[in-house]
Amino acid sequence: MSESMGTWRRSCLCGDVTEAMIGQELTLMGWCHRQRDLGGLIFILLRDIAGEVQIILDDSTPEDVRAKAADVRSEYVIACRGVLRERSAVNPDMKTGTVELLAKELRILSESKTPPFYIEDDVDVNEPLRLQYRFLDLRRPAMQRKLVARHQITRIVREFFDREGFLDIETPTLIKSTPEGARDYLVPSRVFPGKFFALPQSPQLFKQLLMLSGYNKYMQIARCYRDEDLRADRQPEFTQIDIEMAFVGEDDVMEVNERFIVELMQRFKGIEVKRPFRRIPWREAMARFGSDKPDLRFGMELYDVSDLVVESEFRAFRSAVQEGGALVAIAVPGGRDLSRRELDSLSDFVKSATKAKGLAWIGLDEKGESHGSIARFFDAEFVKEVLRRVNEDETAKLLLIADADAQVAEEAAGALRLEVARRRDMIPEGMFEFCWVTEFPLFEWSEENQRLVAKHHPFTAPVEEDIPLLNKDPLRVRAHAYDIVLNGTELGGGSIRIHQQDLQKRMFTCLGFSEEKAQRQFGFLLKAFEYGVPPHGGIAYGLDRLVMKLLDEDSIREVIAFPKVQTSSCLMTGAPDRVDEGQLEELKLKIDVPTKPKSAKV
Ligand code: AMO
Repeated sequence: MSESMGTWRRSCLCGDVTEAMIGQELTLMGWCHRQRDLGGLIFILLRDIAGEVQIILDDSTPEDVRAKAADVRSEYVIACRGVLRERSAVNPDMKTGTVELLAKELRILSESKTPPFYIEDDVDVNEPLRLQYRFLDLRRPAMQRKLVARHQITRIVREFFDREGFLDIETPTLIKSTPEGARDYLVPSRVFPGKFFALPQSPQLFKQLLMLSGYNKYMQIARCYRDEDLRADRQPEFTQIDIEMAFVGEDDVMEVNERFIVELMQRFKGIEVKRPFRRIPWREAMARFGSDKPDLRFGMELYDVSDLVVESEFRAFRSAVQEGGALVAIAVPGGRDLSRRELDSLSDFVKSATKAKGLAWIGLDEKGESHGSIARFFDAEFVKEVLRRVNEDETAKLLLIADADAQVAEEAAGALRLEVARRRDMIPEGMFEFCWVTEFPLFEWSEENQRLVAKHHPFTAPVEEDIPLLNKDPLRVRAHAYDIVLNGTELGGGSIRIHQQDLQKRMFTCLGFSEEKAQRQFGFLLKAFEYGVPPHGGIAYGLDRLVMKLLDEDSIREVIAFPKVQTSSCLMTGAPDRVDEGQLEELKLKIDVPTKPKSAKV
């Protein structure tokens, strides 16, 4: 039976009890973490967000109170009143380990069923069960620490941008659908049957309009929605730190953002990060790291050695290069000791995780002879030549990937570089390597749509000197776009926007938009652009990703209170779900799918 708090008021949080309070009468409330009934003595470990404190009931406690305490089970919510005293057996692992509350009175405020897992850190419980009972999972101290940390990071963000003169302005979340990139989530309109709102993939157009409206510097912690395939670092709804500035170029946006990162790292992690951050043009990032989000915590860079195999007898390499592709090498330092099994397993990795067809390897054995899967075709001189280029000594092993598509070879070698580093423990811990990746291509070719699509978004400005290429060779046009990367993760991305109407129209033409389609989708923006637009640009960080990286978590779900799983569903609430016939009728919607819902998986 549950009791009320009555007139009792909580003195402080359980974890905030200190030795200075010894001798005082305290009223403490919280969850029973554990109860031990030793007959004469009953111990209750009382827990809340601040920590735990021990309650003790001995023969000085009234009999009826002891009887009630004997019934208390884990996760019951109780209130205890008593006097704080020094603890005879000090627990050095507990923040409040030197004190205990000798209970005189006790109230059971709420009972609890036995939880499906222990409310403790390091419990061995699978993620679907945790997410189904997220309200209990969130009681675990580790989860509470993560959400508190997220709050602290958000606070630093707000304080920094406020101090810099950015205005926090909310933008709508029921908007016009303008799909370009991911799929939109749609919301049917009741008032206009057959018409839909979309949930924003980002506040992009609105923040640009705010610049046009004269707000100079904007920031928002904005919820965004994207119906895309999920991964460990993606959620269908996520949060951006969204920023836009007027009358700026790339350097201005980067400068204020570097100062933001330096302050965040200093205040949140106590780490001094040096400015300016490295800037790596996209082409160089691809060539040296095989990735547009390079992990700079270790070396083992990629080298293009195509020129060495044009005449080679090994057909696989020669023909890949002749067809316009590339042969890319990485040298594993001290990799002579890589066993055949390890190399086969790396080859399997390349075949399964990348688009490349396989991996070749070669090195020098102790006698200085070439040794490896392609040693029949390449002698020691070849190996030495490559080793010289990559600045490695004779104990290194060369891993080589060839493909008729140079980008496939680069990306596969980039993925291999990370995999080798992980397996061989080459990535130092506690290092935070920030960099900018710049000069992204403006367009990429979409096989699916059989047309050019914007690599960032259609409002990104091309680099001035590349504008003449827009019609001739659009895939070579570089954009004023930049990503901020930390340890191999894209934290954020942004660009300088197009502010000239004619250029924006040319951009739409390149993207295969008819005048009519451009007007239908972005007419409001084009109209606004007729009324005086300042040059402007900005950036958006994924807040969830930022928190995940700063807390060294592998999954974004660990830093989101109520995340969704891979199928974009919520295991706790069962969303998405069917709705009443009545609701559908109101919206004039008819459902044309089999009734059996898909079961949700993580
Ligand atoms: P972009 O699409 O690069 O740019 O997104 C910016 C940042 O948002 C984060 N992010 C995500 N986080 C979690 N789950 C997702 N599904 C997800 N998608 C993106 C990433 C990413 O770097 N409007 C532009 C920004 C601009 O140009 O100012 C934009 O949205 O960390």
